[in-house]
Amino acid sequence: MKIALGVSGGVAAYKAAELVRRLQQEKLDVQVVMTRSAQEFVAPLTFAALTGQKVITEMFSADAGAPANVESAIEHIAVAQRIDLLVIAPATANVLAKLARGIADDFLTTLHLATTAPVVVAPAMNVNMWEHPATQENVEALRARGVRIVEPDEGYLACGMTGAGRLAGVEAIARAVCEVLGIRHDFDGETALVTAGPTCEDLDPVRFLTNRSSGKMGYALADAAGRRGARVILISGPTALEPPAGVELVSVRTTEEMYRAVLERATECTVVIKAAAVADYRPVSPHSKKLKRGAGRLTLELEPTPDILSDLAREKGDRILVGFAAETDHVSEHAREKLRAKRADLIVANDVTQEGAGFDHETNIVSLFTRDGRELSLPRMSKFDVANRILDEVLRLRHASRQVPTVEGAPGPDT
Ligand code: CTP
Repeated sequence: MKIALGVSGGVAAYKAAELVRRLQQEKLDVQVVMTRSAQEFVAPLTFAALTGQKVITEMFSADAGAPANVESAIEHIAVAQRIDLLVIAPATANVLAKLARGIADDFLTTLHLATTAPVVVAPAMNVNMWEHPATQENVEALRARGVRIVEPDEGYLACGMTGAGRLAGVEAIARAVCEVLGIRHDFDGETALVTAGPTCEDLDPVRFLTNRSSGKMGYALADAAGRRGARVILISGPTALEPPAGVELVSVRTTEEMYRAVLERATECTVVIKAAAVADYRPVSPHSKKLKRGAGRLTLELEPTPDILSDLAREKGDRILVGFAAETDHVSEHAREKLRAKRADLIVANDVTQEGAGFDHETNIVSLFTRDGRELSLPRMSKFDVANRILDEVLRLRHASRQVPTVEGAPGPDT
């Protein structure tokens, strides 16, 4: 993931160098943007050497004497679109005020307006400036807008005073960045296989049977698992989506191709999540030439496709298997039946007729049914948040299955 680190002009600007290192440990690609005042405290070269890329210091970076060119005129938009997050540390009182009012008079403040990525701000200043009602109002305005504020620490300040205003510790800022980006480490060491999207079954060289799956839920799962530290293999039917950074993408089209890909790669995996909407039937004999229009009715003969999830369950080992159930009626009954019949550990069920759920939506409303009898109805939330709740449940099941069962009367593991 790529983030921009905005450094503004305070004594704490030197601490931003340490922050770069810490963020790089999270495998984040850091683009540093410095205000003019920041450059009075630290040289851009420090950040350029740490990140291996040019530090952005000017709105219009013209070569000596020459007028600014088109690249510099649109650079802030390009950076704004590329980043997954903007963190500003340290943020001076002046920068806070500009952010709160939407002033865009340099690269950093323009980037703040131009990006739709989440923003994290770590203020640092003299205690009186921090406690001034103007600053506090600006902080509240930013917070109300969804900006994550990493409060300054109390202590001895460079100006000789003692109080709140010292830049929060590097660890606290890094933690806030990771939280906002959904980076956790609870899937370190796990390999997750995620299937996504629809499958297609050809009728003839120009027509096929498919379904309305957009792949968004599966891609969100792959993204979330990767951010939490898993190695991710994403086996996807045709979708219009960009695969999340860092996942190994295997593109397939038909159910047969997905079946082969899943069975081949599943042996490497500790978790399999089958979010794909797999075609249940395919034409018995697809035509090799385009079917011509006739006067009468056309009957298609279809045969069932292999059930990938059920076949996987046969050699399950201690792999956690997650299936989906997209239903239009009797959701719970169908989900419980699929949990049993497919020998899955978890079934994620949703009623696709509900507003805000199902195909091609940004949100989903799901219920989770687990092999140990838990039933959890989640409210409407983004597919990324749903993905994280599913992964939480996977971890819970993983820990439950690793608990050593104690035989009645025999000593438990702790005795
Ligand atoms: N699935 C699969 N292989 C298939 C069909 C489905 O692996 N050939 C998986 C899906 O990826 C999903 C789960 O099984 O995780 C349930 O899919 P669904 O289509 O809801 O269930 P079906 O068993 O096909 O039952 P029905 O369509 O009749 O509801």
